[in-house]
Amino acid sequence: MKSLERKAKDNLIFNDRGGYTFPTHNLYPAQWCWDSCFVAMGFATFDIDRAILELENLFKGQWKNGMVPHIVFHENDLSYFPNSKYWNVLNLVKECNNVHLATSGITQPPVASIAIRWIIERYSLEEKQSLRIIELIKKIMLWHNWFYAERNPMKTNLVNIFHPWESGMDNSPNWDDLLKNVKTGELLDIEKLRKDTTYANANERPTTEEYKKYINLVENFKKFKFNQFEIHKNNQFSVIDTAFNSILMRANIDLIWLHDYFKIKNKFELKTWNENAFLNLDTLWSSEFNQYGCYDLNRKEKIFTPSISQFFILFAGEAENKNIPKIIDKLKEWLPKVNYLMPSFSPYSDKFDPSRYWRGPVWLIVNWIIYEGLVRCNETTIANRIKDHSIKLIEISGFREYYNPIDGSGCGGRKFSWTSSLYLSWLNT
Ligand code: GLC
Repeated sequence: MKSLERKAKDNLIFNDRGGYTFPTHNLYPAQWCWDSCFVAMGFATFDIDRAILELENLFKGQWKNGMVPHIVFHENDLSYFPNSKYWNVLNLVKECNNVHLATSGITQPPVASIAIRWIIERYSLEEKQSLRIIELIKKIMLWHNWFYAERNPMKTNLVNIFHPWESGMDNSPNWDDLLKNVKTGELLDIEKLRKDTTYANANERPTTEEYKKYINLVENFKKFKFNQFEIHKNNQFSVIDTAFNSILMRANIDLIWLHDYFKIKNKFELKTWNENAFLNLDTLWSSEFNQYGCYDLNRKEKIFTPSISQFFILFAGEAENKNIPKIIDKLKEWLPKVNYLMPSFSPYSDKFDPSRYWRGPVWLIVNWIIYEGLVRCNETTIANRIKDHSIKLIEISGFREYYNPIDGSGCGGRKFSWTSSLYLSWLNT
């Protein structure tokens, strides 16, 4: 019988499209941004060149303004919706990238520097590989710079997102209230166009109502030709997300580390930006809920949803933060309520749904982030429990997209790339 390690490697090889990797066949037939960064970590455990190539191909889609799009369509496969033809960025945004590659027009959590640091701390690179990594670091710097230039609406260095897809947690209840303001738009027959429910159980995916709103937001971006300043003024969804900002803060720390490691000069103002962001985060703290909230920029309201996002701050890299013990206490309250950690939404909430996408299921990328955060805060016992549960889930249900935290069953896509990759990375931790 094949070992799980062998299966994980085989999944990556199976999803490899010759230099970049599908998250899984059929359901996601293109290169997704944060998936690929985690995938690079998995490849690095057995093929460093291939790991670097994954990131190089992702950054081929980088826009001239620095943004790295959440999808790069190397093959223009029209079986997916919204596909390259629908986003139409090559026509709407003149010369959006250097190689005239079709992409989406929004971004995703910036985990590239985190993945690269993870690789460098574990494997030694040949000189040629280091030079390729240095080129990538310069591109990552442009991406982070773009956040502070174009997604910094309050000049607090807490950046905003324009679409639930940018958060990477598409239908999290975090966005329920915000989406109430978004029109459904009846222009397109979304029920017919969306392809995800052909390949995955509809009960495990976002509803069509939500999908209509996702697409309506994109319609608006297209109307403004993806001009960020126009979108700032006219978008129905604009939010400062704690999880996204926690990732960016940690990614900044790792990017500074990479600049120092390779003695690269131009760090811009990264250190100051990050320190300011940490300070300003305090404005989002609630002592009533004991959590950092999100901030709805349209309604000028803080949102305190009991989602997994609140724990991402553990990963942000500021272990001395005075609120950390309270956050860890809150996390501990969730533990006895489920059989498999970590649910993506509070198991105490009425909105908790153990098999619907980001409304309850366990996602291994989230587990990896929380695990890393807890290790940083010296909470190794719970961290190891999360790691053990993640491995157990793979053992009982295979390399799935996400899992039911109550019965451990697998949901969504199969032979999933980032699940396989994180398994490999944990074997090598
Ligand atoms: C879903 C997830 C997103 C991920 C993508 C590809 O849209 O919500 O985080 O990047 O699938 O796996």
